[in-house]
Amino acid sequence: MNILLIGSGGREHALAWKIRQSSRCSNLYIAPGNAGTALVGENVTIAADNFPALGRFCLDKKIILVVVGPEAPLVQGIRDYFESAAALAHILLVGPGKAGALLEGSKDFSKQFMVRHGVPTAKARTFQAHESAAALAYLEACKPPIVLKADGLAAGKGVIISPTIEEAKQAIHEMLVEKKFGEASAKVLIEEFLDGIELSVFVLTDGEDYVILPEAKDYKRIGDDDTGPNTGGMGAVSPVAFAGSAFMQKVEAQVIVPTINGLKKDGIPYKGFIFIGLMNVNDEPFVIEYNARMGDPETEAVMTRIDSDLVELLEACAKGELKNKSISINPHYAVTVIMASGGYPDKFEKEYCFGLDSATPARVFHAGTAAKDNHVVNAGGRVLAITGNASTLEKAAHQAYETVSRISWKDVYYRKDIGQDLARIEKALNRNP
Ligand code: AMP
Ligand code: GLY
Repeated sequence: MNILLIGSGGREHALAWKIRQSSRCSNLYIAPGNAGTALVGENVTIAADNFPALGRFCLDKKIILVVVGPEAPLVQGIRDYFESAAALAHILLVGPGKAGALLEGSKDFSKQFMVRHGVPTAKARTFQAHESAAALAYLEACKPPIVLKADGLAAGKGVIISPTIEEAKQAIHEMLVEKKFGEASAKVLIEEFLDGIELSVFVLTDGEDYVILPEAKDYKRIGDDDTGPNTGGMGAVSPVAFAGSAFMQKVEAQVIVPTINGLKKDGIPYKGFIFIGLMNVNDEPFVIEYNARMGDPETEAVMTRIDSDLVELLEACAKGELKNKSISINPHYAVTVIMASGGYPDKFEKEYCFGLDSATPARVFHAGTAAKDNHVVNAGGRVLAITGNASTLEKAAHQAYETVSRISWKDVYYRKDIGQDLARIEKALNRNP
């Protein structure tokens, strides 16, 4: 079948790489893609939010399956657009409609959803601009650190963790009154701080049944030892030592099942990925957030651990036929190290060219890259996602860093400690099984 994948990051290169391996895939197109996706399929210069042009392209190329990578087109309603156009309604699509994508698009909606369906999560209250006085009064009774969340999409920047009540007051004023994040902070959640260790769990569901993909740990901060500002993610590791089978059984029973049942009860059809951001607090799972898509850079680690034919699973998801499907996962470790433009997550320079000819032995997924005059150049903050795969965490990390050391451009930056915390946890667990 002909497949169209929407997006342009490392997540999309990893998805494209995995989709390409399927014997069910004839032609693979990526809109708009990057220099890496061009190696496994054909890039198409259509923006992810240009639904009419994407629709025309699907008809022109006889696309059977559309896979939506990023959240923005989902929140803007790409599924609703395809379903409501008679000529497009037959096309299979992986990704929820507008209603389901609200799980990511509105933190107020997702918090109410979790509370309504008994999904464990941090306590929170939502305030609007006209309630700013009440918000300030509420803060007085909160125990710091205090978590403030803009309700809407804010390019990953909408969460502020304030160490003191005074700073939280300042931040809430900036968000609610000065509209720091525009309409996204027209509503703000004041949330209890969860003290634990984070992991990302991924589910592919057709709204009735589901398969659970390998879990991963993301490294969100720019600096080693989790210091400095938040980023989109500077690395990923799968599997995660502190997410053993007993913990994952709790996640399935307490989080995944109530989430799928909740969608059904609320009459929200959902065909696509659910990315559950979890905090492990003393071996109990709490949901920090839902996303209506796969994670980035987690996908670049997770895809390398799936042995099943991904297209078969995606097709079954889009058709509502996941019931008798299972997913086969290999026991190898995957360690992904992001190579970023110097200066990211703030300002950075683009169009530095670099070579990849000696980039072995790990897999090189492109994130923010473009082709220029027959060279690859950096075109975004996160540029490459280098994934090592091996039988141990140490070996996989070594493989990734060996490859990282063979690639360079001006001001390149990467974290040096991806996986080290998990290696320490593994050692401790092995000492006290
Ligand atoms: P989000 O944008 O919801 O992914 O939040 C960004 C980051 O803020 C998360 O990855 C966590 O590290 C942190 N965070 C969010 N909510 C909480 C919470 N209730 N307690 C502690 N940390 C949180
Ligand atoms: N890596 C976190 C995210 O994709 O949102």
